[in-house]
Amino acid sequence: AEHLLGIEHLSPADITTLLDLADQYAEHNRQGRAHRDVLEGLTQINMFFENSTRTQASFEIAGKRLGADVMNMAMQASSVKKGETLIDTALTLNAMRPDLLVVRHPHSGAVDLLAQKVNCAVLNAGDGRHEHPTQALLDALTIRRHHDRLHRLSIAICGDIAHSRVARSNILLLGKMENRVRLVGPPTLMPSGVQDFGVEVFHDMKEGLKDVDVVMMLRLQKERMDGGFIPSEREYFHRYGLDAEKLACAKDDAIVMHPGPMNRGVEIDGTIADDINRSVIQEQVEMGVAVRMAAMDLLARNLRARRGAKAAGVM
Ligand code: CP
Repeated sequence: AEHLLGIEHLSPADITTLLDLADQYAEHNRQGRAHRDVLEGLTQINMFFENSTRTQASFEIAGKRLGADVMNMAMQASSVKKGETLIDTALTLNAMRPDLLVVRHPHSGAVDLLAQKVNCAVLNAGDGRHEHPTQALLDALTIRRHHDRLHRLSIAICGDIAHSRVARSNILLLGKMENRVRLVGPPTLMPSGVQDFGVEVFHDMKEGLKDVDVVMMLRLQKERMDGGFIPSEREYFHRYGLDAEKLACAKDDAIVMHPGPMNRGVEIDGTIADDINRSVIQEQVEMGVAVRMAAMDLLARNLRARRGAKAAGVM
């Protein structure tokens, strides 16, 4: 593919190829092996129009481990603040001939639009409520490493599904790989048309977690609630916060995941998040670097092949 805009566009074979490569990078990262030739001579620009800790840092580290020249645009200090549009900003950067553009934007569809205007590979680092493909891929790699497979697993995605691009990308990916996905949360935080997603919906958390292999918690995204219903944190934790009693309903070897950032004591008890026997939250962050290395490696191969074909007059 030319870009990585969403899980929607990937086939099960694409997903497996990317995860296999990411798995190798994960092992090499642990051994301290560098691969600076992979993106050597390429320029990567990170444009984050929304805050980020994990995604921005791991894209930067991934690019540097592969030898790219990485530039982080400080969007808060850019001419976006003077009213320059997303497209004009993208065209301006495009004129500087980047090879990889990593973009996070608060509006769903903004990254797809931008990809149509530039002639480099674009990676979606999260757009509004739409998709966060590298998050779903790093979640999938973490699950696969713990359960030794990525099919026929029962996975509960819990909490604020309605506002979550992480949930949407995970539902798509886990469904494509033939897993059973359950959505657990209050009716007010379920997206409209949820019955079309090919998932089971539970409003009682203990029922929803019964015998699952994976418990994936989500952050309550108050900033996206637009003045609509905001549950009280105490009540929310009581009904939907992951604690030892609710987790006991899952399988004994079920893993606990959270994409971060976490609200401890709101959607997850801090002791569960820190329990190294159950929680894989730090491993998710580690796999984030490996998955982003694999994604940029594969896109760069495609980019070089297209440029080579164009130079040879084939395209
Ligand atoms: N999971 C995730 O996207 O975290 P950041 O917002 O910190 O990048």
